[in-house]
Amino acid sequence: MKATATACANLALIKYWGKRDAAQNIPANDSVSVTLDGLTATTTVEFDAALARDEIELNGARTEDARIRRQLDHVRRLAGTTDGARVVTTTTFPVRAGLASSAAGMAALSAAAARAARLRLDDRALSALARLGSGSAARSIHGGFVHWHAGTDHASSFAEPLARADALDLAIAAVVLTETPKPVESTEAMERTQATSPLYPARLAYVEGAIDRLTLALHAGDLPGVGQIAELDALNLHACMMTTDPPLLFWVPETVALLHDVWAHRERTGRTVYFSIDAGANVFLLGSPDEIERALASLPTVARATRVLRSRPGPGVEYPSKHLF
Ligand code: PMV
Repeated sequence: MKATATACANLALIKYWGKRDAAQNIPANDSVSVTLDGLTATTTVEFDAALARDEIELNGARTEDARIRRQLDHVRRLAGTTDGARVVTTTTFPVRAGLASSAAGMAALSAAAARAARLRLDDRALSALARLGSGSAARSIHGGFVHWHAGTDHASSFAEPLARADALDLAIAAVVLTETPKPVESTEAMERTQATSPLYPARLAYVEGAIDRLTLALHAGDLPGVGQIAELDALNLHACMMTTDPPLLFWVPETVALLHDVWAHRERTGRTVYFSIDAGANVFLLGSPDEIERALASLPTVARATRVLRSRPGPGVEYPSKHLF
């Protein structure tokens, strides 16, 4: 059987950083994200006994991606099959542009492969399956605002919806300042942080309260509250990374310039625009749709961006009827 799934990328407002179990991507802390409308990956999967090995295509080019093959193996194991798979994926946003594309890709792959293998997984089981491929993919199964429960084992580590997409009149702009791949992959960066940053235990102690505060702000429709909490969390994460041994500093000069722009803009105009930063140099702006457009038009460092991607809270996994092959 052939199946196709579409999933969006997501931006963590309270970030996942560090693992309790590296093999299964069981995280050290809960996290909360917003699913990013329009930044999607669509994947078609077909299992075929005649295929000796998996055939994988990403945005028109053949690839030998070990992570995709491993994720297909998880699905084969659950379905009790050894069939090879043909996998075709297209994304609506640039991969390897310094934006986390793995969450959308792994969520779409997991959903399409599970359906193609006729597995009947509920949303929890599908989220846990996606997590095995890429931790943050667990959250891309759902739309709107999403809470990933760290859990303690495979079955208890899954994401579920926290608030609907319209809980907040939020716009998100990804301001791409550099498309150079980050110098250290997140898996290694997380390990180094856990092993060496003296600030990391303090982060774990603070995260639970931050998630409670964020949840309250979200349910109250308090955009400035959500923005403040998300901004502080990004800085908290980067403080941990900067204090690893050897240190991890993902920012480029434009990153710092843009943070100052956002603060100056808030100070000068009283406008409620906030930022978040993943494990990279690029900056996400958060605010109401109007405020984001004003900020994009007036913040000096935005003019130096290589591209700006606009988004809103988006939907969870969908299964379009049209296949990619
Ligand atoms: O899922 P990974 O291994 O790409 O790690 C994601 C890490 C952050 O994007 C920095 C935080 C998060 O929660 O998405």
